[in-house]
Amino acid sequence: MPGDKSIAHRALIAAALAAGPSVIRGFDPLDDGLRTLGALRACGVEIEAAGPRELRIAGRGLRGLRSPAAALDCGLSGTTLRLLTGLLAGQPLTATLDGLPALRRRPLGRVIDPLRQMGARIEGHEAPIVIHGGPLRGIDYALPVASAQVKSALLLAALNAEGETIIREPAPCRDHTERLLRRLGVPIVAAGGVIRCQPAHPWPGAAFDLPGDLSAAAFFLVAASLVPGSEVVLPGVGVNPTRAGVLEILTAMGGKVTIAGRRGGPDDEPVADLLARPAALRGVEIGGALVPNLIDELPILAVAATQAQGTTVVRQAAELRVKETDRIAALAEELGRLGARVQATADGLVVEGPTPLQGTRVEAHGDHRMAMALAVAGLVARGETVIAGAEAVTKSFPDFASALRGLGADVE
Ligand code: S3P
Repeated sequence: MPGDKSIAHRALIAAALAAGPSVIRGFDPLDDGLRTLGALRACGVEIEAAGPRELRIAGRGLRGLRSPAAALDCGLSGTTLRLLTGLLAGQPLTATLDGLPALRRRPLGRVIDPLRQMGARIEGHEAPIVIHGGPLRGIDYALPVASAQVKSALLLAALNAEGETIIREPAPCRDHTERLLRRLGVPIVAAGGVIRCQPAHPWPGAAFDLPGDLSAAAFFLVAASLVPGSEVVLPGVGVNPTRAGVLEILTAMGGKVTIAGRRGGPDDEPVADLLARPAALRGVEIGGALVPNLIDELPILAVAATQAQGTTVVRQAAELRVKETDRIAALAEELGRLGARVQATADGLVVEGPTPLQGTRVEAHGDHRMAMALAVAGLVARGETVIAGAEAVTKSFPDFASALRGLGADVE
């Protein structure tokens, strides 16, 4: 699987702030990660390829970034835009952050509002924004949505803020930033949904090993569950419990997914080898605190649900409406075209299964996870499925089609 996209952004940022040289291993040239890399380079960070899937980064220290010559182009990467807004707010620079039209439409006020409370000077409320970096102060802030991007933006701002920053999560969301910063010596303590972060001490350069991306693996776990005769082994995939809700739900659906060889210390990212085989799936209810732990996997879980016996209900997942596209509407529309019975609700989906799917022309809506989920639906559909806009996969998994072909799928 490609190197974890979420962790890649964070490793690049941590390496850029280090007091010396760092290496990142397992880095793949995904559009999103390359946006963060490009933005950091434009802020004066030297980053070079050091070998296959390996980067060498010359850290500039905690406050060492400088004003870029041009606007930083985040492309379609919400993680780049939100994390960099927090990071740059405390740096001695002025920078404009912008992106493609679909990124400009995504909510940014959720990051900007608390950063302004910390003293950040930011013009605008959605991309493009102009950041006038300067001194910040810690705040005590309750996140209105369980968003790891917002939490991470505030933690990156907290590194250079005066006093303690306290962040209260409504439900646990991925804790990659906390783990990574703690490993570098940043005083961060998390307990009972409350994260306390003290200003950082300079840290030396480090080595970062990216696990395989579980969000990419999820497409293959579901494909193997649905296609008769499959057996798929995915070595070295990240199984961070704040991110691994898909494994829990696939198992609850009756999926045959084995997690073997779990490794990694308490502050490391846990990694394991995953094995999936076909299984008779059944419908489940998905809601509550688990939702942030599998939010990116709901498109592919919806595909699994079309082949499961009974009803699958997804609730409290309104965040799906503000991802790369409105995934609730897009899933109902596109899976519906294939013959699935999928009903959109205000905050989720109701899927009745099992339904035989019939290949036809469907649309990715500019969304990498829609494209990949529809490709897996195409594997089980009778006849040919054509996915318009499938090039969206470059955001997180440029080699997706060849990986599927490698497993015997007929994909052009
Ligand atoms: C991410 C957090 C999630 C997720 C996104 C990556 C991250 O977004 O959907 O793909 O790397 O922090 P939110 O923070 O908006 O929930």
